[in-house]
Amino acid sequence: MSESHHPVDHVRDAWYIAATSKHVERGPIACEILDTPLVLFQGEGGKIAALLDRCAHRNVPLSVGRVRGDEIECGYHGWRYGADGICRHVPTMCGPVEGRARRVESYPVREQQGYVWVYMNPEEPSPDHEPYRFPYLDEATYSSTAYSYDFSASVHATLENILDVPHTAFLHGGLFRNSKEANEITVLIQRYTDRVEAQFVGEPRPGGILGWLLAPRGGTTEHWDRFLLPSVAEVEYKLGRSHLLISSALTPLGDFKTRMYAVASLRFPVIGRLISRFLRPFAMMVVRQDAKMLTHQSEAIRRFGGERFASTAVDVLGAHILRLLRRSARGESRPSTTAEPVGDPERMIMRV
Ligand code: FES
Ligand SMILES: [Fe+2]
Repeated sequence: MSESHHPVDHVRDAWYIAATSKHVERGPIACEILDTPLVLFQGEGGKIAALLDRCAHRNVPLSVGRVRGDEIECGYHGWRYGADGICRHVPTMCGPVEGRARRVESYPVREQQGYVWVYMNPEEPSPDHEPYRFPYLDEATYSSTAYSYDFSASVHATLENILDVPHTAFLHGGLFRNSKEANEITVLIQRYTDRVEAQFVGEPRPGGILGWLLAPRGGTTEHWDRFLLPSVAEVEYKLGRSHLLISSALTPLGDFKTRMYAVASLRFPVIGRLISRFLRPFAMMVVRQDAKMLTHQSEAIRRFGGERFASTAVDVLGAHILRLLRRSARGESRPSTTAEPVGDPERMIMRV
């Protein structure tokens, strides 16, 4: 049994989605990542900038100001800052305005696939890796549907929930697994330096609505669950000729507030677009059941003043996720694009 009084340390050397590009447009908009208030706005050449949402002058949030040209202007005395956070204009002041004290912290930003990613370490202007890409979002042979949801839970609890198999038959009974099915399957768990993957071998077609939607005629199933640092969960199914990947990139807004940006990409023979229309309402139904349970979990953790976990082998990825997050918070594991395997795959049997 393990006990902790903190819901996982903060991983700051990492990219998180701050908003969708559509939401920012010109800005300014306020957002929050890791309990840090940020302001997003469109700076030079239309590029989105992220600054700490606090004017260097008298602490007023810059997000209540406005964008003037390429700069953001504070709503109180009109100080103006560039995308680099340097103060460029102080009304009524003669002489130079730039100076170390008159500067706000600026964070690296990437705009990619319609999302605005922010690197949460302002001391690192050139991060050594790029943000996660949703693998099939740009592919014409896939129908993709995007959705987001706010959970009242830690990023760790939310990640574990998305990748947790045993609760699916129980909490979502009938939607995509039935507890009555109970087939013995082999799970192979492969650890990597920045991720962990569980491969489910010999799994029959999932029961419930999902299985019927994806493989009306049955067939063999291949299924993988993956966690990638700092906060991405992937659930992948190959059923007959169809292929489904649900990627969830999570943003820790605060210790018990997590925003999920998910993309479900489906390749399905002939009527993929039609089927993918059902995916979103189906996913939201599942997500609402999860969110309710995660809220209960968070309330209990708060009431008892900390987390306490007892686990078994069928909590396949939970312990690995926690270990990777803790290593990453200590700077010992970093997200990368070239994951190196760590050791041989572990094998276990579970009933699903
Ligand atoms: S508080 Fe921002 S300009 Fe004075
Ligand atoms: Fe769930």
